[in-house]
Amino acid sequence: QKPIKVALLGCGTVGTEVVRLLTDQAADLTARVGAPVELAGIAVRKPNKHREVPAALLTTDADALVESDVDVVVEVVGGIEPARTWLVKALAAGKSVVTANKALLAEHSGELFQAADASGADLYFEAAVAGAIPLLRPLRESLAGDRITRVMGIVNGTTNFILSGMDSTGASYAETLEEATRLGYAEADPTADVDGYDAASKAAILASLAFHSRVTAADVHREGIASVSAADIAAAKALGRTVKLLAICERVTGAADEQAGAGNGAGESISVRVHPAMIPRTHPLASVHGAFNAVFVEADAAGEMMFYGQGAGGAPTASAVVGDLVAVARNRVVSGRGPRESAYAALPVRPMGQA
Ligand code: HSE
Repeated sequence: QKPIKVALLGCGTVGTEVVRLLTDQAADLTARVGAPVELAGIAVRKPNKHREVPAALLTTDADALVESDVDVVVEVVGGIEPARTWLVKALAAGKSVVTANKALLAEHSGELFQAADASGADLYFEAAVAGAIPLLRPLRESLAGDRITRVMGIVNGTTNFILSGMDSTGASYAETLEEATRLGYAEADPTADVDGYDAASKAAILASLAFHSRVTAADVHREGIASVSAADIAAAKALGRTVKLLAICERVTGAADEQAGAGNGAGESISVRVHPAMIPRTHPLASVHGAFNAVFVEADAAGEMMFYGQGAGGAPTASAVVGDLVAVARNRVVSGRGPRESAYAALPVRPMGQA
């Protein structure tokens, strides 16, 4: 069987782990895919930086690598450009794409899905939300025969680490953030996490898949955790509750949507928001501590389910990337493809504050 040739764009923490998994498991992956999965090149900006990957594969010319005769492009660079240009080009040429790029998906999923559907190429991005946790493919595929009504989750590890810490110690937000930074859980500039931007991008992706719609990060109502005080946490505790930063994506129905011109004609729209919420300590999401992620999904026929695990980190994120790589490689071996997304009838996003 002809090898599946893979271009890897980016070789930071996640990329290095992707190379390690592909190398360590080469024989198993060949058996699972039905063809060898062969790394054709790794595009990096700084080729001289020390990395535990074969130096002969490194190149600084990502454009040439994308345009070469590879079958799959795996992108773990992040950011909108130049990732967007590379991936649109790859999809237009019929190459399968695997990406971990949440910012790109939260902004340009419509364009990427169009490009994928126009050429019949695969676009998989499990690692873009909640790291290792299998979540996007269940929403896209396993639950495609059901009607999802709500997706509600803890999708940012940094803020969950801070809120869990405040809940267990009674310390202030500022003290707990400092501790999180010292231990390496929060970044030096924690804005994207604590102000809810990271969770809002993830909520946009979750809502797009759960409701077969096109939701961008700008559509998501967003509040961060910086104003949550020790007194708020104590008050929640006294009520048998705890505070979590939740990403909530809900299908909503009501005449008000139609009157406001926000409905889809059948009285349905979607509400997508990120904000701190007091939840009962008995709710499954209340037992998610530290930097873990968990997403609670409700669907008409399936009922309630929860997806739990590590939402960040090199190895967990690489697990999701390589899982997607196996899926798209298998599809290529049988000349098939994964789900199409661009043709769905979209539900409108309901503006916040509407009845
Ligand atoms: N900063 C993110 C978090 C990393 O804290 O969850 C994963 O996107």
